Amino acid sequence: MTTPHTLLRSLPPDLDPNRLPRHVAAIMDGNGRWASKRNLPRVVGHQAGVGALKELLRCCKDWGIGALTVYAFSTENWKRPQYEVEFLMALFEKVLNRELSEMVDEGVRIRFVGALAHLPGALQSAIEGAMAATEANTAVEFTVATNYGGRQEIVNACRELAEQVRTGCLLPEQIDEKLFAEHLYTRELSDPDLLIRTSGEQRLSNYLLWQLAYTEIYVADVLWPDFDRAAFHIALQSYQGRQRRFGKV
Ligand code: FPP
Repeated sequence: MTTPHTLLRSLPPDLDPNRLPRHVAAIMDGNGRWASKRNLPRVVGHQAGVGALKELLRCCKDWGIGALTVYAFSTENWKRPQYEVEFLMALFEKVLNRELSEMVDEGVRIRFVGALAHLPGALQSAIEGAMAATEANTAVEFTVATNYGGRQEIVNACRELAEQVRTGCLLPEQIDEKLFAEHLYTRELSDPDLLIRTSGEQRLSNYLLWQLAYTEIYVADVLWPDFDRAAFHIALQSYQGRQRRFGKV
């Protein structure tokens, strides 16, 4: 029997392959509420969220979307209960180790961005290993923002440029948008074309503040663990129905 899942493995015919976003960013919101609705501990929602993420990544690959950037842990998320923070750190490490060989085989290049030096040592090692093992892959650029804050990223870039000015390597008038973007974590990626946030929340929550300047925003009402191929299809329909003007008429 053909399941809806396999039916959607190739690009749905109503989507124009020439007008797909090249880079999709996602705020994976609603894991805690998904679990609470089922009388389960919040962390079960994070576990379920991994399944949705895997499916989205595979979907990007199947449909020829070359870059996916997700918000896994913000600089503010340390304020969550210690148990939840520790669970998330262990989950990231476990999932990375478990999925690495599949990512290598599927052509996924994984990168972590954020203040990574503050993450637990074992997670840092898993991140380094996964980034090195997938460095040459080109099918999908998969970026995971972890201990990431958009304002912090911008401040870091300012510091790096200020230091270059202080040492006489750079003149203030040489700083332009292109140079500034080269000092962001995302320097090797184009800006996202589409931002998806789940659970109905309409906030950026300090995510990719510079990079989202002209990005189309799509808010899905479903909670992150329920964001599947069909939901992504609807997000892409919405994206293709829009006119991107970049300030022009
Ligand atoms: C937000 O939901 C979700 C998170 C802070 C964590 C998301 C992480 C994953 C899905 C795991 C990803 C794994 C890897 C390896 C990248 P919330 O807890 O804020 O939900 P709520 O708003 O309902 O409380």
